[in-house]
Parts: sequence; structure tokens; C-alpha cells
Amino acid sequence: MDTVHIFDTTLRDGEQSPGFSMNVEEKLRLARQLEQLGVDVIEAGFPIASPGDLQAVRGVASEIRGCRVAALARARKQDVDAALEALQPARQPRLHIFLATSDLHLRYKLRITRAEALEAITSMVRYGREGCPEVEFSAEDASRSDVEFLCDAFAAAKDAGATILNIPDTVGYAVPEEYAMLFHRVRERLGDPAGITLSAHCHNDLGLAVANSLAAVRAGARQVECTTNGIGERAGNASLEEIVVALAVRQASFGVRTNVHLEKIYSTSRLLSSITGVAVPPNKAVVGANAFAHEAGIHQDGIIKNPLTYEIISPEAVGVPSRQLVLGKHSGRNALRLELKELGYETSDAELTECYRQVIAVADQTKQVRKRDLLAIVHQVLRKRPAAAAAAVARDTPAAT
Ligand code: KIV
Ligand code: ZN
Repeated sequence: MDTVHIFDTTLRDGEQSPGFSMNVEEKLRLARQLEQLGVDVIEAGFPIASPGDLQAVRGVASEIRGCRVAALARARKQDVDAALEALQPARQPRLHIFLATSDLHLRYKLRITRAEALEAITSMVRYGREGCPEVEFSAEDASRSDVEFLCDAFAAAKDAGATILNIPDTVGYAVPEEYAMLFHRVRERLGDPAGITLSAHCHNDLGLAVANSLAAVRAGARQVECTTNGIGERAGNASLEEIVVALAVRQASFGVRTNVHLEKIYSTSRLLSSITGVAVPPNKAVVGANAFAHEAGIHQDGIIKNPLTYEIISPEAVGVPSRQLVLGKHSGRNALRLELKELGYETSDAELTECYRQVIAVADQTKQVRKRDLLAIVHQVLRKRPAAAAAAVARDTPAAT
């Protein structure tokens, strides 16, 4: 089975978005976690951007041994020199050079011709290869580029020594079929040479970053660039956890694997939000607080009988501590019985009915019933029991949260 390599750019594309900046020590902490998570490449920063960025890439390059460390550079000599300097201590360095290929960017941003762009790609990839054994070339704004010129750019990069060719949807403009077609066209034009990996890099402006990345995998991409919690420029980058879990849950359909340890996904997500202070939205797929929470009574009943009824992946598989049955006014008696049992209380039918009545009353006012509300209710209901019977059923009560 083919492996799709995961290129995590949380520390570069993610970090450069507002509210997500990290200092050197924080970047190092996250890099260690990403190494444990099993990503194949950590893009640690853009060294020419600031001395702090150069220092952070250097720090990550010095410490991380279990995966590749990449540094970004524009197709300019001073950028490439800064990236090579930062990568110098890396065991497995990767130089990542980019240049825009859309006419829009060439004409208005870079003010160069297509011929000048090809010349810059050739000379900078060749120069970079002299200082680094592995070079990736990204054609910025690829999805809005003329496809034949895009192929010319990749052919130039490949001939100059790049072995990873990245096709970014820089502004999140592509839709899945169209994005997949780019991969088919580039493969057709380059003839699928051995030793060349095509890579996807998607932004989420239309909410399609993950769908586009998966379409690229079907079309032959064997590296996907993404970020933890989907952070990144504007609406973010493709979310690492969503891609990796989709490829795992639907492995029979995609026929590929990744090297990511799924059970470390949740702790990685939490570490990033604790470092940046930015919370994960509750409805975020895979790592949001509600991703495995079930409030509707029918759903709770189904989950208790067989989790597969309403869950396509177990929370434990991605490292979420334990399934949460949220008690609210849509909850059922079965969920309440289970929750009480987990807290150490066996109730008679009559006691359960009384607890249930009170839970619904609290939920009507507060929407959700917290563990400490539930404990107050059950204690009050059990107080009406004869003392001996109460002692027989109440076990140690865990601390309320
Ligand atoms: O979105 C983009 O085009 C990028 C490149 C630098 C890879 O982030
Ligand atoms: Zn990007």
C-alpha cells in the first residue's frame, strides 16, 4: 500500500496567520509533539522573514531527528542562503523554494515575465541543490495558473534537481475535480518519473481544503501539506487531523496509509491551542469538544447499545480521553443511568425517574447538566433511601468537574 507523506506546516503557514505567532521555545515544544505524532516533514519557518524565524528553524533543525525539517525560501539567493544556514544542523533537511506561476502574480506582484520566472526557478533550485540534498519546489497560485505554463515550471524545477513538486491552491479557489485534473495533467506531462513526489497544499477559503487534498491523493499526490487544527492564512490550511483520519477511516476507498499515530492527534491539537491561546471551535471535526458528544436521547441510546450506530471512529482512536454523553433536555433515561453508573451509583427505576425529572428541569434552565449538578441531584434523591440501602449502592464518588 502506498504511503501519503504528511508535511506539517503549522509552524510556517499556520504560524504566519493573525493570533497564532509562537516564540522559539513554543515552536520547539510543538515540533517535538509533531515528531511524536509521526508527521514526515515539519516545515519550521521562513528564515529570511526575521532573525527569530531563522533561530526557530535552526532550533528545530538541531533537535528534531525523527522526521525531515523544511525551511521556506522565495526563489532568491538571499532567501535560499538564509534557509540553508537555518537548516545546517538538520539530520534530514529539506529546502522549500517557491515562486508564483499565475499570470496575475507574475504581472502584478513580481513584475516579471514567464521566461524570467522559469529562469529564476532553474537557477535557484540548482543553487539550492548544491547546499541541500532535498529540494521541494512550489508553484504559488498554481490553481489559477495556465496549466501548460505550470507544467513548464515543474519541468524546469525537476530538471534543476527538485524532487518534490507542490501544486498549491494558494487562495482556496479550486474545487475537487478541477484540482485533481491539475495532478493528472502534471503527471501526464512529466511522465510520472521515478523519484518525483507530487504534493498538495490547500487553503480553506471555500471550505474545500480537505476535500481538495483528498481529491489530490486520488489523483496521485503522495505528499499532503496541512496544519494542526487547520490554522493558517485567512480561512486556514487543510486540517491535518481531518485528512489523516479520513484516509484511515476510508482506507478501503483510498488505498493509502500515513505514518501518523492517530492516538496522538488530540494531545497535539490541545498543545497547539494551549500554546496559542486560541480555542478549537466545538464543532470542529475530529478534535472539537462536540466531535464525540451525543446529546439527543435516540443517539445516546444507540451509542450505548453499539457506538458504531453514531460514531465512525472511536474517540479513543484519536486520543480523546473518553466519550462524552452530554446530559441535556434531549437526553434519554438510558444515558442518565449509564452516567450515574460511571459516577458509581446504581439507582432503582423510581430513583432514576426522579433523577431524570430533575435533570430535565435543570437542563431546561441551563441547557447542559454539569457533573456537579448531577451529583447534587443524585445525592438528594438517594438521601430519601433507607440508610443501609444507600450505603450498599454508593461507591466512591469521583471529584466533580
Ligand atoms: O499557499 C501557498 O502557496 C504557500 C506556498 C509558499 C507553498 O504557502
Ligand atoms: Zn499556503
